[in-house]
Amino acid sequence: MTRKTVRIAMNGVTGRMGYRQHLVRSILAIREQGGLDLGDGTVLWPEPVLVGRREHVLKAMAEKHGIEHWSTDLDAVLADDTIDIYFDSQVTSAREDAIRKAIAAGKHIYTEKPTATGLDGALELARLAQAAGIKHGVVQDKLFLPGLLKLKRLIDGGFFGKILSIRGEFGYWVFEGDWQEAQRPSWNYRSQDGGGIVVDMFPHWEYVLHELFGRVTTVQALTATHIPERWDEQSKPYDATADDAAYGIFQLEGGAIAQINSSWTVRVNRDELVEFQVDGTEGSAVAGLRNCRVQHRSSTPKPVWNPDLAATHSFRDQWQEVPDNQADGFDNGFKVQWELFLRHVFLDEPYHWDLLAGARGVQLAELGLKSSAEGTRLDVPEISL
Ligand SMILES: NC(=O)c1ccc[n+]([C@@H]2O[C@H](COP(=O)([O-])OP(=O)(O)OC[C@H]3O[C@@H](n4cnc5c(N)ncnc54)[C@H](O)[C@@H]3O)[C@@H](O)[C@H]2O)c1
Repeated sequence: MTRKTVRIAMNGVTGRMGYRQHLVRSILAIREQGGLDLGDGTVLWPEPVLVGRREHVLKAMAEKHGIEHWSTDLDAVLADDTIDIYFDSQVTSAREDAIRKAIAAGKHIYTEKPTATGLDGALELARLAQAAGIKHGVVQDKLFLPGLLKLKRLIDGGFFGKILSIRGEFGYWVFEGDWQEAQRPSWNYRSQDGGGIVVDMFPHWEYVLHELFGRVTTVQALTATHIPERWDEQSKPYDATADDAAYGIFQLEGGAIAQINSSWTVRVNRDELVEFQVDGTEGSAVAGLRNCRVQHRSSTPKPVWNPDLAATHSFRDQWQEVPDNQADGFDNGFKVQWELFLRHVFLDEPYHWDLLAGARGVQLAELGLKSSAEGTRLDVPEISL
């Protein structure tokens, strides 16, 4: 086996996503498993270079995990020819400029979503990347969740017949920050800092709907800022200017209708933090992050509406769990997508979760906000480079 080092500049690793999912659960996890076996006698060995604004935090993180290199100078890191890939999990508002520089420096790009704060910027990044001939990928982690993988298996196996509708319920209570610390960063609740649940979640809904059920052709959304005042990381009150809930309806190519509630102001009375119910002519399924249960038409009970009688059975018990059927279990979705991206870079394997796919997510968020502001249903035009 030959070991090939791949140097990855990781910008934004001090953040929630950058640290936990990308550094620890993906890149360091690949190192712990001995690298990524490319199957051609080569093992890829990822070497992260931590990039950020606060030197002492980067240094402490590097020491904790035995990482040799870190820097607060992004330009210097990008000028380093030994760096192969630029990864970005900074706050959304800082992303576009940094990726632009990294493309100009000839690095391959892997990035969190949303790729930019507007469609024009997102498309421009995709065009620049194509012109530069670099490889590029955008995180679309939900596709690699066990629950959604099981749902995809059901679709591929023809379980549903004709798919009629999808109901998504996403959300949980994010504390305001006064009497209990908020569990999400405060910039998420300020639109001037790139926050808002539409910008955060519609990019996810775009690729989930598109890949599983059909391209989104129209969007109609109503957003709300239910909690107008919150408390930040320094316990200071601030005006929450961004939407903290969005109620969206999406028409899909092929005729299915999706309705997805996204909310940081809802208390969970579900099995998982996100659940999608899919109803088809032959059967229905409810998929969450990890689990998926089904009800076939042959075992569908016949409820009769009668409010005078108490329900005699539990409707939930009439569903059947979809098995994992995966001997070694499901790996972390972020890591799975990183591995596919590294194979794309080094083996040229196909990879369609790219900056153009990322731009579709930004487009849906932009149109969702416009739809809410105008009180209209909007077409979602197909975009291309
Ligand atoms: N794929 C997913 O499921 C998922 C989930 C949550 C967030 N995200 C995305 O990941 C990105 C980071 O989100 P997060 O929740 O980790 O945020 P976070 O606030 O925890 O981290 C932000 C990172 O950006 C850095 N940063 C750079 N410039 C900054 C600036 N001007 N102000 C503040 N911080 C700055 C911070 O130091 C930190 O490392 C966002 O773009 C978000 O949309 C993706």
